Amino acid sequence: MRTQVAIVGGGPAGLMLARLLELRDIESVVIERRDREYVQQRVRAGVLEQATMDLMDEVGLGGRMHAEGLVHEGVELRFDGEGHRIALSELTDGRAITIYGQQEVVKDLIEARLESGLPLLFDVSDVEVDPSAPRVTFTHRGESHVLDCDVIAGCDGFHGVCRPAIADVLTVYEREYPFGWLGILAHCAPSSEELVYAHHRRGFALASMRSHEITRMYLQCEPDEDASEWSDDAIWDELDRRFGMQVNRGEVFEKGVTPMRSFVVEPMQHQRLFLAGDAAHIVPPTGAKGLNTAMADVYLLAHAIEDSYRGDSSGLDAYSARALERVWRVQHFSWWMTSMLHRFAGDDDFQMKIQQSQLLYTARSTAQATALAENYVGMPFRAR
Ligand code: FAD
Ligand code: DHB
Repeated sequence: MRTQVAIVGGGPAGLMLARLLELRDIESVVIERRDREYVQQRVRAGVLEQATMDLMDEVGLGGRMHAEGLVHEGVELRFDGEGHRIALSELTDGRAITIYGQQEVVKDLIEARLESGLPLLFDVSDVEVDPSAPRVTFTHRGESHVLDCDVIAGCDGFHGVCRPAIADVLTVYEREYPFGWLGILAHCAPSSEELVYAHHRRGFALASMRSHEITRMYLQCEPDEDASEWSDDAIWDELDRRFGMQVNRGEVFEKGVTPMRSFVVEPMQHQRLFLAGDAAHIVPPTGAKGLNTAMADVYLLAHAIEDSYRGDSSGLDAYSARALERVWRVQHFSWWMTSMLHRFAGDDDFQMKIQQSQLLYTARSTAQATALAENYVGMPFRAR
């Protein structure tokens, strides 16, 4: 088998890259370890930056996002018993975020891929990559396959095989946080029209949503906490305490703990293998950046691949350096939001006061609020 671009991983990064290449008449094969159902049901991020929304439109798949997604022009910081609105759109020349679940983006991309009849193989196993050949080998429906190509896109997430294949040439930058997030989805109306990031002595809490009928909430918890040990009542009571108000309650239909980590490898490329998304970097979820950063990577990579087929390989050569500029901006923002909003073990009252002062300054100072807003709605995606 031969193709131009072998894409390992059918998450948001791999699927969007495939779509961008399709629109440039560049062939690709996407191989995904899980089945379609699993990939489409996996509950993860929910906030699309302005540039991700624009990208969905650019690739012709923004229809359902506009119909079902919720556009937000502000976000609330809640601390010391009071809420403070950050006017995202006012502070960023009209840019905004949209609440639209990651799995909805993935569903739209999968449907488009299958409709166009282009190869997207689920349930593959034994995936191995040879970055110098370049070549990908795998098993699908009991048969072994060899896929020769010009470029391998490593879009296989944090636990994939592409990053380990070039581990010898990578430098790892990493920080683990001593807490996790307990996340729930529940059948009830959101308690607030906009997202609320709450700082509290007992720990951070976040109120989000998926629709007018589905609430998404998060609580700072121990990193290794077992979600099933939290009763629904205990979760709602704790949310009430941390938000300082009675939140709407409903049937909880999803519960899970997400660990918190910052992680980057450099460079994001070696020989003919190019890493994108979680395969190369992870952020703690506080800034809602994971999915959006994956999209920024593949936007850059698609343009670089396109240029290379036109005889200019400078974009591919510079891919890692260019992608990393934005990756580190996002790393800093996610680390800053995490540090400002969470309680760390051993934090004393001095630290509490420092965090509250930082939050008040962010809410009151136009300069600081603008810094939060422009990072939160996201920096523009770079094509070259
Ligand atoms: P992934 O979505 O991980 O996709 C990689 C794909 O590759 C997967 O489908 C996987 O099955 C496949 N794969 C793996 N190994 C192989 C292989 N060997 N061969 C073929 N395929 C393979 N971000 C936020 O902004 N906000 C959040 O609230 C948030 N919550 C999260 C909760 C969890 C539990 C996790 C894990 C992540 C969360 N994120 C969140 C991060 C965000 O979801 C990711 O940044 C985003 O999914 C990155 O997309 P990706 O395509 O790079 O990787
Ligand atoms: C959601 C997740 C985030 O990490 C965040 O910062 C805001 C919202 C969400 O899942 O809705």
